[in-house]
Amino acid sequence: MRKIEVKEGVYWVGTIDWNLRYFHGYLTQKGTTYNAYLIMDEKITLVDTTKEWMTDEMLKRISAVVDPKEIDYIICNHVEMDHSGSLAIMMEKCPKAKIVTCEKGRAGIERHFKKNFPYHIVKTGDVLNIGSRNIEFALTPMVHWPDNMVAYLREDKILFSNDGLGQHIATIERFDDEYPVGTVIEEAKKYYANIVLPYGNQVQAELKIANGLEIDIVCPSHGIIWRKHVDKILAKYQEWAVNTTKKKVVIVYDTMWKSTSKMADTIAEEFDDKGYEVKKCFLQTEHISDIMPDIIDAEYICLGTPILNRFILPNMSAFVTYLRGLEPKGRKYFVFGSYGWSPKGIDDLADEISKLGEVKGVYKLNYIPEESELLSLQESIRALI
Ligand code: FEO
Repeated sequence: MRKIEVKEGVYWVGTIDWNLRYFHGYLTQKGTTYNAYLIMDEKITLVDTTKEWMTDEMLKRISAVVDPKEIDYIICNHVEMDHSGSLAIMMEKCPKAKIVTCEKGRAGIERHFKKNFPYHIVKTGDVLNIGSRNIEFALTPMVHWPDNMVAYLREDKILFSNDGLGQHIATIERFDDEYPVGTVIEEAKKYYANIVLPYGNQVQAELKIANGLEIDIVCPSHGIIWRKHVDKILAKYQEWAVNTTKKKVVIVYDTMWKSTSKMADTIAEEFDDKGYEVKKCFLQTEHISDIMPDIIDAEYICLGTPILNRFILPNMSAFVTYLRGLEPKGRKYFVFGSYGWSPKGIDDLADEISKLGEVKGVYKLNYIPEESELLSLQESIRALI
């Protein structure tokens, strides 16, 4: 197995999950990688691991560089099992290794593995000397679990950013100058929208740490390693973390007999006439995780559904549950839909959405829209923007 050197003495020893298509509600059409890194120094250090069932692939990559028995430290930047699933096996394969993590990391590892491992516990500002190099740690809680932390290899100016700055892309290429960068940024945006979006404040704190460091290379725990476009991805994260929106509307809707879809068309036309960028997302054909990247920079989010047996359609329920969890901040909402005998479900949707942001209007109509009703819907939108 060929060795992949990130910088002299620092190797990528992760695994490639070519076939992953679903990651807790997120469609990963391009698969992913679980990136682990091996630092060869007096104290041999492994940064993060992989899913349990992929341990052999990681061990093969490590063994191409060094006998795993020689590993002294295994840094666990994040307990989630895509990066820590193989920890118990690795602790058997690396008998002298200690796990380097924070207090919350240790608590999470103990709950997952129910085993007593040797630990070296770190907090923000702690430095671990591994010979000719020093690794500095910073806790980054809630980007995106309470235990998250990042590690900075001072002499090589490498930031191991764990989930932050990652993307779900399975590829044999490892670096951002070997893969179309537009696609990498697009996947990083999708990753941010589906994983990191609720934690903008915490991301800003993490960026503050990053901005205080000299960084040549960012090694995330998923996807492509940043070495040519470090500034570009940091700038993108800054933009996303502060919830910058533009003149854009995302219209998310489902329909039963095309009444709600006619309303969606009317709304789209009106926003378009007012110079807004318009994105229509039909819930029968677009997955909720593919809609989220468009939400990142949208000023308006319009949600439309008909009523089935008193309730909104299940596709819309799923989207709203997902959206509430991801909590985009500072957006304006408009709710619309067609009903048969009771409009209550549409009002209930508006109530639910009001927990997320300001609902600027609700438009309901019975069965099939009249031309005059579509004109009045148009008026309602015009009055908003
Ligand atoms: Fe990639 Fe939160 O694990």
